[in-house]
Amino acid sequence: MKGRHIILGITGGIAAYKSVSLLRLLIKAGAEVQVVITPAGKQFITPVTLSALSGRPVISEFFTANTGEWHSHVDLGLWADAMVIAPATASTIAKMANGVADNMLVTTYLSAKCPVFVAPAMDLDMMAHPSTQANIERLRSYGNHIIEPASGELASHLVGKGRMEEPENIFKVLQDHFAHGLDLAGKHVMITAGPTYEKIDPVRFIGNYSSGKMGYALAEEAAERGAKVTLVSGPVNLTASNPNIQVVKVESARQMLEACLETFPHSDIAVMCAAVADYAPESVADVKIKREHQDAPVIRLVKNPDIAAALGAQKRLGQILAGFALETHDEEKHAKEKITKKNLDMIVLNSLRDPGAGFQTDTNKITIIDADGSEIAFPLKTKREAAADIIDHILSL
Ligand code: C5P
Repeated sequence: MKGRHIILGITGGIAAYKSVSLLRLLIKAGAEVQVVITPAGKQFITPVTLSALSGRPVISEFFTANTGEWHSHVDLGLWADAMVIAPATASTIAKMANGVADNMLVTTYLSAKCPVFVAPAMDLDMMAHPSTQANIERLRSYGNHIIEPASGELASHLVGKGRMEEPENIFKVLQDHFAHGLDLAGKHVMITAGPTYEKIDPVRFIGNYSSGKMGYALAEEAAERGAKVTLVSGPVNLTASNPNIQVVKVESARQMLEACLETFPHSDIAVMCAAVADYAPESVADVKIKREHQDAPVIRLVKNPDIAAALGAQKRLGQILAGFALETHDEEKHAKEKITKKNLDMIVLNSLRDPGAGFQTDTNKITIIDADGSEIAFPLKTKREAAADIIDHILSL
């Protein structure tokens, strides 16, 4: 934490008093902290306390009223190694989710290039409202880390979920984040993600339910740890937010193979997360197949190339190749067979039998199996947390 530049964003919630403890912990650990507070935040905690503890003037407005000095949110956004918003009210979360840049805190957030941590704090009904939940999901989709609020007694004396996580725990999240540091700095990581679409005719395809969420989470995690990432992505509704991620968009398995063959030779690590279609139509109709003029058509399929196996066959010493196995039965046996068949160093197994694992969900329950057969099973986690476990494991290899 020593010497790290941290922006502590404080918004107008009762939990703002706890931000003082968080600030003290950060300063004690040697971080340089710039407090940015919203106008409403100042109703709850005085800037004098915060500037005294941080050793820096607190920023709240775009300009200092008496001198006309302009506070550059862009410079601040570039200065920071991490930004933590604690407490984050429903209102600030909504503004962040929608880019409503009407105060210094939200403009700084929009300019920040660093990892952002958000610790919501609000009444249980506000927290549970679909609007708040949708905004939080949106922040997650931008790659922000949500430090989930705890359950307990709230300022309203009601009991439920909405209490800001304790300062010690928020501090620990940041500490863990910096402990990983830039452990992938200088590494090139290739990740495949999403489904592939195999064309039948100009309007139809064979596809699958893969959302790409696990692959995109892996890409964000690797990029945040300093890697240069090439994300070979099938058709998905996701965007990569880290500038160190280069997205190569493909549609079919053959296109994915081509992109991977080009990228793999200069990659240190490849994680094959895509749900590649096993078969493609033998031929693609030039025009839309019409219902009226013929009997039900028979679509002949041909086998798609196994991309992971193709890379496994040309893997060099020092390169790490990781695969995924999504199984419905005999999970371990099938996963271990894939390690051998594709010459993988490890495989991430998820079972469709586990609730919360697999396609479309934001969570995953994984077991990592190494080439020597050793296994580690993880509990149900968010896909982003699972991505961190996978990368930690790759680094341990
Ligand atoms: O053989 P199976 O499809 O179950 O293997 C899954 C693993 O192999 C995943 O890592 C997946 O991304 C990869 N794969 C691939 N090309 C294929 C099929 C699977 O890269 N054609």
